[in-house]
Amino acid sequence: MATLHFRVATADDVALIHPLVESAYRGEESKLGWTTEAHLISGVRIDTAGLLAKVTDPDGAVLIATCPDDSTSQNIPETRPVIACCEVVRRTPQVAYFGMFAVSPRRQGSGIGRQVLASAEDYCLQTWGTEKLEMTVISSRQELIGWYQRRGYEVTGETRPFPFEELAKLNSVPLTDDLRFEVLEKDLTAASAGETGGKGSGISTPIGEVGKGGAAALVAADSTPRV
Ligand SMILES: CC(C)(COP(=O)(O)OP(=O)(O)OC[C@H]1O[C@@H](n2cnc3c(N)ncnc32)[C@H](O)[C@@H]1OP(=O)(O)O)[C@@H](O)C(=O)NCCC(=O)NCCS
Repeated sequence: MATLHFRVATADDVALIHPLVESAYRGEESKLGWTTEAHLISGVRIDTAGLLAKVTDPDGAVLIATCPDDSTSQNIPETRPVIACCEVVRRTPQVAYFGMFAVSPRRQGSGIGRQVLASAEDYCLQTWGTEKLEMTVISSRQELIGWYQRRGYEVTGETRPFPFEELAKLNSVPLTDDLRFEVLEKDLTAASAGETGGKGSGISTPIGEVGKGGAAALVAADSTPRV
């Protein structure tokens, strides 16, 4: 499994993250991955202004993963392709939200998503002391819901309406009327250290590496808290 380097994105990373998110969620390239919403929605997932808002949100962070072994990058961290990302947002002192989860379609299915999710959980625990991480998944994406359940997430039974108005603002089009979100959540305080990295594994810092050991192998490179 590739060693990944994780860091918190800055405004300078928006141009690197945007094509990754678009290619993973929708359109022809997304069909190279094992799960996509191309059959449910056409058009863009987010514009660069929306992405910039997430990156600069004082209550959130966009985590990005690069691969130090990537031969195309000449091993300069800032120029390495971003191969995966996610966002985390502190909703309350106890609850954080996980979203915008994307792995480059050509790299999916090799364990990268698992590492990103574990790192996000670790980040929330270490940075905010988050007790519960929640997410929303389009209800018909059962293969994806199953994937989250295998990572310890529970389907709460709560559903939320799909923000069709947000789609319209982006000129994106729903391909079905039956779009709604299923709410999933995980109690991070009950999770085992192996799954989340556990307290003290160093993800509170915005930069770290994770390899075969999962999030627990994160190495702090900067101890400056972000928020
Ligand atoms: C969801 C996503 C981030 C997962 O990343 P990933 O790197 O592929 O994840 P991993 O390699 O860690 O895990 C691959 C899993 O897919 C499973 N898988 C592979 N092919 C599959 C298929 N055809 N059907 C169902 N599951 C499949 C594997 O069994 C493995 O699950 P397991 O570890 O529980 O056995 C990635 O697929 C993605 O970017 N999808 C598009 C964007 C998206 O839908 N984001 C989430 C929105 S809520």
